[in-house]
Amino acid sequence: MSFFTWKDEYSVGIREIDDQHKKLVAMINELHQALANGKGRDVLGNILQQLIDYTGYHFSSEERLMEKYDYPDYVDHKQIHARLTDKVLELQKEFESSDVKRSIEVARFLQDWLNKHILQTDKAFGPFLTKKGVS
Ligand SMILES: [Fe+2]
Ligand SMILES: [Fe+2]
Repeated sequence: MSFFTWKDEYSVGIREIDDQHKKLVAMINELHQALANGKGRDVLGNILQQLIDYTGYHFSSEERLMEKYDYPDYVDHKQIHARLTDKVLELQKEFESSDVKRSIEVARFLQDWLNKHILQTDKAFGPFLTKKGVS
């Protein structure tokens, strides 16, 4: 069974965003799987970097949509993304300078964060954008 399983309740009702969330879930699972298989620093570091890059791309996609449709909580939501980005970059630095087991915490942290963020913060803009005709 996957470390992190996609559930229908994660859907925000917008295809592009749901697909990106699914991809993030898959990437977190990939990181976890690599850890479980005892992969080395290079492999883990690569997966982590891809995950960080894709997270940046995903955040930009959400922010672009929220800004385009004048989402009222856009600024707060963007700040939450910025805080997560800082935190992950900090964790990545620690990973680079310490034990590879540190990436277990990174995977766990990202899973918890994404889970909460989708269900609470991202789901809030779904109905707003859907009403504006985004699907
Ligand atoms: Fe999101
Ligand atoms: Fe978000």
